[in-house]
Amino acid sequence: MAEISNEAIPGEPAAEVDAQWQALLDRRKNSAASHAAQASSPVTGSLLYELYGPLCNAHHNARQSGTFAIAHLAQSLDGRIATLSGISQWVSGAADLLHTHRMRALADAVLVGLNTVLLDDPQLTVRRCAGPNPVRVAIDPERRLDGSQRIFREGAAPTLILAAADRARIGETLGKAEVIPVPRSAWGLDPHEIRRILARRGLTWLFIEGGGITVSRFLSAGALDRLQVTVAPLILGSGRPSILLPEIADLTNSLRPRTRRFILGEDIMVECDFND
Ligand SMILES: NC(=O)c1ccc[n+]([C@@H]2O[C@H](COP(=O)([O-])OP(=O)(O)OC[C@H]3O[C@@H](n4cnc5c(N)ncnc54)[C@H](OP(=O)(O)O)[C@@H]3O)[C@@H](O)[C@H]2O)c1
Repeated sequence: MAEISNEAIPGEPAAEVDAQWQALLDRRKNSAASHAAQASSPVTGSLLYELYGPLCNAHHNARQSGTFAIAHLAQSLDGRIATLSGISQWVSGAADLLHTHRMRALADAVLVGLNTVLLDDPQLTVRRCAGPNPVRVAIDPERRLDGSQRIFREGAAPTLILAAADRARIGETLGKAEVIPVPRSAWGLDPHEIRRILARRGLTWLFIEGGGITVSRFLSAGALDRLQVTVAPLILGSGRPSILLPEIADLTNSLRPRTRRFILGEDIMVECDFND
């Protein structure tokens, strides 16, 4: 299992890590024009490349036909992402938080559900590593958000609110955010349609950062390419669940995707690939 930490290789100077990260960012952001040329870039072989290089490749390939959607959740040993009251800071450790910011920097858009906006009031910007802020997207089907949260007030990145088509008008705004109507479906707002709407705006790499309900709806709809679950060595005993899918009759109906595994400090991240 590869160990990814604040240092790409334990003991490696920070400047080397910064250079490797910058090379990855360059490769990602220039992927259409120079993907092939950069395939042999100096980041090849580094631990940062081992984790993020295949994601850049997957996005590059997916972009030919559509979009790339990857989700991440940090959970306790007993599968909880937060207390019942909604406290989740912090389930996982510093290495996973850094990883989350790196995922934001690689993505075109970072998406969260209503409860995460209400309970965390997140900024959803890139602060723990170098890289551009993604467009911020929140799902609020019934229009419960009142515009007082930070994503509406701070202009660090464009913000989109996805609302049920019967509760939003094209061109509507809330604070600094644009409200976008999305059709309803069996999964609430249709995750596939969300991907299409964002792709039409050039947002082809979607990073779904939680919470459990939002990620579960994308997974249930078959609208996730990859899912990263970071398991932290703590037991909450109660709390908000991570993945929740409809009941299955036996284990033959379970999902058994190909996985990659990484050590992130004290935590272990398992990445599922649903396209394999
Ligand atoms: N540990 C982690 O990795 C992590 C990450 C993020 C958040 N969190 C924590 O997780 C908690 C929130 O997670 P959560 O699972 O309770 O809720 P959530 O996923 O943040 O939000 C769920 C709500 O968003 C709306 N929604 C999401 N997807 C939708 C879809 N496809 N269609 C329609 N509506 C959709 C629904 O709103 P309506 O109810 O209006 O229908 C739904 O109830 C917070 O405590 C936060 O701190 C933890």
